[in-house]
Amino acid sequence: MSMIEKVKAKAKSDIKKIVLPEGDEERTVKAASILKAEGLAEPVLLGSPEKIKAAADKAGADITGIATEDPETSPIAAEYADALYEIRKNKGVTPEDAAKLVRDPMYYGIMMVKTGDADGLVSGAVHTTGDMLRPALQIIKTKPEMKVVSSSFLMDCPNKSLGEDGLLVYADCVVMPAPTAEELAYIAIAAADTAKRLCGFTEPRVAFLSFSSKGSAKHDSVNKIQQAVALAHELAPDLLLDGELQYDAAIVPEIGASKAPGSPVAGRANVLIFPDLQAGNIGYKITQRVGGADCFAVLQGLNMPCNDLSRGCSVEDIVNTVAMTAVQAQI
Ligand SMILES: CC(C)(COP(=O)(O)OP(=O)(O)OC[C@H]1O[C@@H](n2cnc3c(N)ncnc32)[C@H](O)[C@@H]1OP(=O)(O)O)[C@@H](O)C(=O)NCCC(=O)NCCS
Repeated sequence: MSMIEKVKAKAKSDIKKIVLPEGDEERTVKAASILKAEGLAEPVLLGSPEKIKAAADKAGADITGIATEDPETSPIAAEYADALYEIRKNKGVTPEDAAKLVRDPMYYGIMMVKTGDADGLVSGAVHTTGDMLRPALQIIKTKPEMKVVSSSFLMDCPNKSLGEDGLLVYADCVVMPAPTAEELAYIAIAAADTAKRLCGFTEPRVAFLSFSSKGSAKHDSVNKIQQAVALAHELAPDLLLDGELQYDAAIVPEIGASKAPGSPVAGRANVLIFPDLQAGNIGYKITQRVGGADCFAVLQGLNMPCNDLSRGCSVEDIVNTVAMTAVQAQI
């Protein structure tokens, strides 16, 4: 069973309510019909009933029995506005601002999750990453034990000798452009947690990546990785982790043994922490495009699960992301 098949089986075992703010978008409506039919989640489509129906007709999607809510006319929007005002008043948001913001489906959806009216949110078929991330960061906020929100990419590689039966977890590839050493340590801990809870890894083995292996090169940027490793050790003493390691030393057993002898993870790492967003984003795309890996992205560190799609996403991508969000909501 592939990783995503396992995730879908888990999503079905305890169905969660996932709100889709882009409810009048054709791929989203089609995905909602599949999610409902396959029992993967209880989707809620946001948007005007006419537009949702028009999108469903165009997509040939049966949305019978799927809940819809229109932020423009919803009576509960006033409650969400009060709650939003309380959360953001110290940041200069007025009651009038809050009343206006909750009519925006993205904010309405985020408030549904915040208030527990939904278990999670997926968007991004139309909006950018920042459009969803900003309100999620402002309103849902970071888990108390986490310093930052970041992302993990689950890379299902054709070479099954890599990582965990071909599955590698990469972080961060979406959120933090220039993480500090402390932020890198938290990204690593969050990625190990994602590996355990979402991917079912029994033993996350975390490698902090660099162009240097265990002091082979000297540079300020290498020092930062070494500091991150030391901090991660302090914060999570039971987690198997090491660095700094080059990519090959992290995942190829013979190279790990020669470049980092005695390392607890070198050569067999299954969670790979990139030094910054440039490296992480480029790295996952190389693995996907040249390495032929299937890739699935999730955000981590938020108090409640919200996930982002690529604007070029397929219906299947939306279904998969909702299933992963539902599993994140179970834990
Ligand atoms: C995540 C991102 C949207 C935040 O944008 P930003 O302009 O820094 O937002 P702000 O500075 O206004 O921050 C908004 C709030 O989120 C918080 N925040 C920002 N980044 C955060 C993070 N990674 N974790 C937790 N909180 C964060 C800020 O502290 C702020 O909180 P406050 O308003 O309560 O004080 C921005 O870092 C970003 O665009 N990242 C890259 C995303 C991207 O384009 N990826 C492309 C790859 S697909």
